[in-house]
Amino acid sequence: MMLEIAGTGRTWLLSGPTSSYAVHLTEDDELLHLHWGPRIALADAESLAVRPLPGYWPFEAPLDGREEYPVEGGPRFVRPALSVRTDERRGTEWRFEAYETEDGGEGGEGDELRLRFRDSELVITLHYRMRHDVVERWVTLTHDGGEGTGPLELLRADSATWTLPERDDWRLSQLHGRWAAESRLVRTDLTYGEKVIGSRRGHTGHQHLPWVALDTDATEERGEVYACALGWSGSWRIAVAQLPDARVQITGGAGYDDSGLLRLAAGESFTTPVFAGLWTDSGHGGASRAWHAYQRAFVVPDADRDRPVLYNSWEATEFDISEEQQGTLARRAAAIGVELFVVDDGWFGARTSDRAGLGDWTPNPDRFPAGLKPLAEYVHALGMQFGIWVEPEMVNPDSDLYRAHPDWVQFQPGRRRTELRNQLVLNLAREDVREYLWEQLDGLLSSTPVDYVKWDFNRCFTDAGWPGEDYPQRLWVDHVHGLYDLLDRLRAAHPGVAFESCSGGGGRIDLGVLARTDQVWTSDNTDPLDRLAIQEGFSQIHPARVMAAWVTDSPNTQLNGRVSSLRFRFVSSMAGVLGVGGDLTKWTEEELAEAGEWVALYKEIRPVVQRGDLYRLRRPAGGLSAVQYVLGDETVVLAWLQAQHYGEPVPALRLRGLDPSATYECPETGEIYRGAVLLHRGLRTGLKGDLDAAVFRLRRVR
Ligand code: DGJ
Repeated sequence: MMLEIAGTGRTWLLSGPTSSYAVHLTEDDELLHLHWGPRIALADAESLAVRPLPGYWPFEAPLDGREEYPVEGGPRFVRPALSVRTDERRGTEWRFEAYETEDGGEGGEGDELRLRFRDSELVITLHYRMRHDVVERWVTLTHDGGEGTGPLELLRADSATWTLPERDDWRLSQLHGRWAAESRLVRTDLTYGEKVIGSRRGHTGHQHLPWVALDTDATEERGEVYACALGWSGSWRIAVAQLPDARVQITGGAGYDDSGLLRLAAGESFTTPVFAGLWTDSGHGGASRAWHAYQRAFVVPDADRDRPVLYNSWEATEFDISEEQQGTLARRAAAIGVELFVVDDGWFGARTSDRAGLGDWTPNPDRFPAGLKPLAEYVHALGMQFGIWVEPEMVNPDSDLYRAHPDWVQFQPGRRRTELRNQLVLNLAREDVREYLWEQLDGLLSSTPVDYVKWDFNRCFTDAGWPGEDYPQRLWVDHVHGLYDLLDRLRAAHPGVAFESCSGGGGRIDLGVLARTDQVWTSDNTDPLDRLAIQEGFSQIHPARVMAAWVTDSPNTQLNGRVSSLRFRFVSSMAGVLGVGGDLTKWTEEELAEAGEWVALYKEIRPVVQRGDLYRLRRPAGGLSAVQYVLGDETVVLAWLQAQHYGEPVPALRLRGLDPSATYECPETGEIYRGAVLLHRGLRTGLKGDLDAAVFRLRRVR
């Protein structure tokens, strides 16, 4: 990043490879947003800064829609990003104190700009960091009053407000859903007023990914797109406001309604999660590629290491597991080329159904008489890594843990404890609970050769109380910090272990959890056709490198009984981190042999899929859909035909991201194509009928 500061010390310009972001502080210490868009020079930013604010009428506020971080109070009527209450008053009136910069090291990618303000004992620091073309913003709030100063109540402390320029006809894209139907893309006109999305559930939620994109007339590969994503795994809220003057403001942060409430005593601080945003003029596809590159470079751990092909028997066996049966599945999985074998739910405590055992993280002696070690060693001897499922934040009332510590869960005094899936939520804001979990999990990872942990979370908060605690409200935020602390501590102590974030499928997918997990479980819906739309939505922001996708049985057992070929199921799952989740004991020899071929092919294309640039060639909308990945000289196209109608020919796929003057060869068939022809006329897929699919590989001839 490049950070330039005007001689006045009151205009700041951050620039990435293709975009710039500028803010300006007026003589009255109002922090105004100046520019977010194509790269500009400092002189351009300064010229924007000298424009006078429009006149002031008693019914309009000139600051509205122009401020970088609107606080509550004074002549402002837009949604405040910060709302603070003391015993005496409400609102904020800040004075600028100073700016600071921090050198993030080589290339300037981690350089940080901090703007510090004060309102009496409250110190407000706005943080900015530009990585590639992604602007990261967050805020630190510190109560630095002396002893005897009363507490500050943070009614709302958002991470950022993003201001978009005046444009006609803004459109909003969002990723909505529910369990087994996550991350589906919708694009609608934005009208005056506010559109609010979020989660009141204590976790990110299946209902919305914390991401929005705004454009006016962008296509997949052309036009201006603004997009923002929040790095927070608890309740959250993003409000998109279409203001009367055709600007848009997007305000977001932790908490929804009062679940974001916090109290700061003297000496205490709160740091908001990061709200990241980007601008591009390369359309929605360009925005996605920018998000993917950013996450691979700065968010996801070890992103240059490709993820292995996984086997997990959850859909095939559910709770009915044993050492012998898992061993049989492991042999079959190894034979088709699987690299990581994961034992899902049911291996511990009295967990033979979802009614008991959560919280007791010791192997079930009837199922694993000598613990998990023999199975782990067996799996290793078969040449695979070994993984386990856990759900540490939960407890079944029928468990030794709950019998010993009924007060360790979230509950309201004198009220019913709501059970969902027969379980309660542990209060991770409590240090003793975190310490118990640390001991259990660290013990498990130290005593058993585990390479992978699937970390699940299968219910929402309902009774978020904490009897005996002064300010129980803080558990909404502290639970998430407790989760992050545990994950960070476990990662540091067991650096060889990879983690998966799961929450009944895709209920906890966000930039916060992705900073400490290696991949996510995209959805409990493994139907290969439904998955195309779920994956299309997911790919708007997150890269294939973190998107776990399993091939399961046909007919689909979990949801809809749909019958599909192994080919269609594999090609659907090859768009992310391939896994297999079918009952391999029921697959025929031919099916196992075919599966082995698909797994081998996936391993060949894996670097391109997991590290390449993604081009969405056609949306999954009933007919032909396809994605393309490009990494260096290699190109991979995955194409699916849902249904062919009226005998009409299936359209050719016009590829992208190729050099028109280069020649490309298909390594399997030896066929030669000209880049210009692939870009202009397209590639014929030969797909026909219903639920057909194919993989195409092309290599640039040097
Ligand atoms: C929900 C997950 O999404 C499934 O994959 C499985 O792990 C179950 N939980 C186990 O209870």
